[in-house]
Amino acid sequence: PIVVLDFGSQYTQIIARKLRESGVYSEIVPYSESIEDIMARTPKGIILSGGPASVYAPDAYHPDATIFELGLPILGICYGMQLISQHFGGSVIPADHHEYGKAKLTFQKECAIFADTTDGQTVWMSHGDKVDKLANGFEVIGTSENSPFAAIANEDERIYAFQFHPEVYHSEQGSKILKNFAKHICGCESTWNMGSFAKEQIKKIQDTVGDKKVLCGVSGGVDSSVVATLLAEAIGDQLIPVFVDNGLLRANEREQVEAMFKARGVDLITADASELFLERLAGVTDPETKRKIIGETFIEVFDEEAKKHDGIEFLAQGTLYTDVIESVSVKGPSKTIKSHHNVGGLPDWMTFELIEPLREIFKDEVRLLGLELGLPKDMIGRHPFPGPGLAIRVMGDVNKPDLELLRKADTIMLDVLHATGLYDKTWQAFTVLLNVKSVGVMGDNRTYDNTVCVRIVEATDGMTATFAHIPHDVLETISRRIINEVDGINRVVYDISSKPPATIEWE
Ligand code: XMP
Repeated sequence: PIVVLDFGSQYTQIIARKLRESGVYSEIVPYSESIEDIMARTPKGIILSGGPASVYAPDAYHPDATIFELGLPILGICYGMQLISQHFGGSVIPADHHEYGKAKLTFQKECAIFADTTDGQTVWMSHGDKVDKLANGFEVIGTSENSPFAAIANEDERIYAFQFHPEVYHSEQGSKILKNFAKHICGCESTWNMGSFAKEQIKKIQDTVGDKKVLCGVSGGVDSSVVATLLAEAIGDQLIPVFVDNGLLRANEREQVEAMFKARGVDLITADASELFLERLAGVTDPETKRKIIGETFIEVFDEEAKKHDGIEFLAQGTLYTDVIESVSVKGPSKTIKSHHNVGGLPDWMTFELIEPLREIFKDEVRLLGLELGLPKDMIGRHPFPGPGLAIRVMGDVNKPDLELLRKADTIMLDVLHATGLYDKTWQAFTVLLNVKSVGVMGDNRTYDNTVCVRIVEATDGMTATFAHIPHDVLETISRRIINEVDGINRVVYDISSKPPATIEWE
């Protein structure tokens, strides 16, 4: 494989993901991995990721310097470039201003790493430090307006370093550059695909689980359905699938999920814990506290359920990479954005060992995997629905009447999207109850009622998103129907924020 050393960039997984798209297998390891462990993976090349730190900071993250003496091809990206520069006698200083955004890459030399890409291509910069003096043995192979050292290389040693991020979407030909590194410089072949991923994961599950049992939390969404399917293939009836009715589901959701699994011949256990969840959430308004309470209560319910069976030692969840990266503790190399409940919300006392086969991949890859495993199209096409459910879509205190109001608005909105064919064209669509009342007039009467916000976004992996440009007449239908049909709502607004700087969910 290609081994990617992670220095805490939000983009590290995207490097691996781009390599996967080219059919190249890669493994991400923490920057501190020992040289023996790295070599045990028999790498054909190493990529040093970006990261939020400065290489000259006293507590900067440094890899074992022996990696530079292995004779393996190395590619350093951003922070990785600065490490390479520092190691080989160049110098790194704070830039006068942070360079952030698009830049034009001008080739200074014809290199195999740029094969089949164009001079003047757009690349994405995001850095506060810059290389000031070229490292020994290196030459400049690319420049940009603000970066005289945008790309450098020691081609004899097969070491390359970029100031820009080839892995991000805005680096238009970046995928090709990463592919060139893997294929031309490291000599990797394009043999990896989702089918190989499924086989690897099934084998891994069998090795981990042995003759024990696994409780798998299923929600009816794509992620947990794919996990349950992988487990069913791997361990058959050692799998105990549990669906928790937490009282925070959408209208008719419980019935739909039960029917969906029944149709596939899976014996789903439904644990009705709605009263427990709602009791615990009563009066709680802080988003992170809500998330923690829900995460903890889920585990308690799973624990109770597990007691009814012998030999359950594992809990399987459909945690995705997006859930992981945004929840990583501040103590780790990246920053916490919100505690996605199946990661940051887990209590310390939990005794299950976790099985999370999707932890390193993205939603759209999970969908491909689902197709590979033969899941039905309508299950694969379902919009994401967060574990904490409607609790993070009712702003402020969560209670039954508000949840009911939101369910009605949500059902109407989804109805209109399905009817107009827009559901399958968007990443996610939902309504948020804003906890804001406003004045209206209905008939000849004054109203003072709730506001609902419609949030519809487009995305490919949920890491970034833009609000969907829904035709105004469709928005009008949604608004008119919600206000006419839901008693207690007199105003509908549309969220026109993108991520970043907003997030997709409101809490
Ligand atoms: P944000 O709001 O962080 O959401 O931009 C990104 C994607 O993740 C979903 N999401 C969650 N999924 N557990 C989940 O399984 C969670 O706690 C959670 N929080 C957000 C969100 O719906 C969006 O698709």
